This record gives sequence, structure tokens and C-alpha cells, in this order.
Amino acid sequence: MKVGIAGIGRMGAAIAERLLRHGHAVTVWNRTPAKAQALVQHGAAVAATPAQLAASADIILSILTDAQAIAAAYDGPGGLLSGDVKGKLFVEMSTVRPETQRELDQRVRAKGARMIDCPVGGTTGPAREGKLLGLAGGDASDLARARPLLEQLCRRIEHVGPVGAGESVKLAINLPLLVYWQALGEAYALCQPLGLDPARVIDIFADSSGGPNALKVRGTMVAEALGGKVPGNVTFNIDSIRKDLATMIEEGAALGYELPVTSRALECYDVASKAGMGDGDAVMLPVSWLKKKGR
Ligand SMILES: NC(=O)c1ccc[n+]([C@@H]2O[C@H](COP(=O)([O-])OP(=O)(O)OC[C@H]3O[C@@H](n4cnc5c(N)ncnc54)[C@H](OP(=O)(O)O)[C@@H]3O)[C@@H](O)[C@H]2O)c1
Repeated sequence: MKVGIAGIGRMGAAIAERLLRHGHAVTVWNRTPAKAQALVQHGAAVAATPAQLAASADIILSILTDAQAIAAAYDGPGGLLSGDVKGKLFVEMSTVRPETQRELDQRVRAKGARMIDCPVGGTTGPAREGKLLGLAGGDASDLARARPLLEQLCRRIEHVGPVGAGESVKLAINLPLLVYWQALGEAYALCQPLGLDPARVIDIFADSSGGPNALKVRGTMVAEALGGKVPGNVTFNIDSIRKDLATMIEEGAALGYELPVTSRALECYDVASKAGMGDGDAVMLPVSWLKKKGR
């Protein structure tokens, strides 16, 4: 299958590597060309523009920062939708508001093409191993077309409704996790005076109801961060999390809900970002909170 991928950031690169390993003909495009070029050694072809990418593929995945990035990649001269895309299938995987995907769907349909949204749970490691959680929104027949490809990326695919529905569930599952990193910093503050080894404390958390699944997977990294080691391998950074939390708050407001815990958590992530940790991994958030003592 000829596959195009728009957006070779952390996730896009991991997804591209996975699909190349499975023998697909993959063409990639990225706003900053060097990141796309880095995939040539894995067998990818590079498109000079989003329009060229769309022309080269039957199915086009995109995984970009936010709604502005989606507009920049899809619309306008040279955009993914600027050429003849009749009959092509777009799989939009960015984490954005459902409304962003519903509006994109209108523009895609107007060009005679189809789309589903399929944001994913899991980060770059699961993407490389084909262990993401795919949350799909769209027509069943469009998902059926994308499914063989998505099955190589995901351990589980849930079809949760029409276009945009995947995003509703994605924002929902990310909410408790992102709030958790702040809760962990606050919880750790209560036992910090004991002077215990961070690895031991995190192990106790992970073995109790005080630890979510993420702690079982990333506990070592959290403990190392609490012990003073800044993680070099950033998979999901603090500024991306701020974008997700702001998106959740906007979505909640549009639905008539206040999200007070989420709003407060965002303020705490803002503190970390202002302290220069915006590019740091999520596990630095508890560290940021502990540094705030007495301030
Ligand atoms: N990292 C994770 O663990 C994870 C997990 C699940 C979902 N997600 C979601 O997946 C999406 C991508 O995340 P990521 O971690 O891969 O982010 P990333 O490494 O920051 O990559 C972002 C991508 O978006 C592109 N982009 C940003 N603004 C653009 C614009 N105006 N025009 C064109 N392209 C633009 C970037 O291009 P440049 O390289 O030119 O900047 C890059 O390709 C986000 O929506 C994120 O919330 C991330």
C-alpha cells in the first residue's frame, strides 16, 4: 500500500519507521525538511510539499501539533487538499478538538476524498512496537480501509462514533494522566522529608492504588528524574501537555462544563514551562513542583 505521512515529529517519525519495517512504500513530508530526510536511511521517499505527498499515496496519515498545524498542512496552495485527491483516504491522528476534525471532514469531502480521525494513546515506544491504542471516528467503511494499516500501529482499535468522536475519547483518557503528574509531585512532597530512595517510593506508588498504569511503564524514568537525572529521551514534552490541557478546557467549556482540576493542573505546567522545562519530558513535572517549595 502506498502510504503518505504528513508531520515527521516524534510520533510521525516513529509511525513512519514502523510502517517502513512492515514493507510499505512510505512517502513523508515535514515542514522542517531535515526531519523527513532523516527517514531516507530507513527507506522513505520525501515529498517537497504536502500536495506532492497526497499525490504519491492512496492513504495519507497526518500527526501534527494542533489545529493551526492541520490548517497549514491541509489548506492553501501546496496543501494536502490542493490537488486532485478524489477517492483518497486521510487519517488525521493529531490530538485536537473534535470540532477541528469535523471541519476538516467537510473540506475533505468537498474534494471527493474521505477521512477518519484516529488519535492515539501511547507514545513513541508503543508506536515503534505497534502497541498504540487507536481511537477512531468516522464511517465504518472508511475505517475498514484504514484498518490494515492501523492494525500494524495499534494493539487495539476502538471505533467510537462519527468523525471527531476519536478526539472526544482521546482528550478524555489523557485528562486523568496529565493531572496525575501534578498529583504525584504533590503526593511526593508529603513523604520527601523521610529521605527515602526515589526508586523505592515510586515502586510503592506503582504497587498501590496511588499509581496509574503509566507509572508501571515509566516509573524508572520518574524515579530517576526525582533523583536528579534529567531524561534525555523526551517522548511527550511539557509544552505539548499544556496544549492538550488547554484543548480539554476549551472542549469542556464548549460542552458547558468547567474543569477546575484540569485548569489548576495547567497553571502548574505553566510554572514548569516558565522555569525553562517546556521541552522537558512529562516526568519533570513532579520535579518542577518540588522545586517550588517555599516560593
Ligand atoms: N509524543 C507523544 O507521546 C504523543 C502521543 C500521542 C499523541 N500525540 C499527539 O500527536 C501530535 C504530534 O505530537 P509529537 O509529539 O509528534 O509532536 P512534535 O514532535 O512536536 O511534532 C509536531 C509536528 O507538527 C508539525 N507542525 C507544527 N506546527 C506546524 C505548522 N504550522 N505547519 C506544519 N507543520 C507543523 C511539526 O513540524 P516541524 O518539525 O517543522 O516543527 C512536527 O512535524 C500532537 O497532536 C500530540 O498531542 C503525541
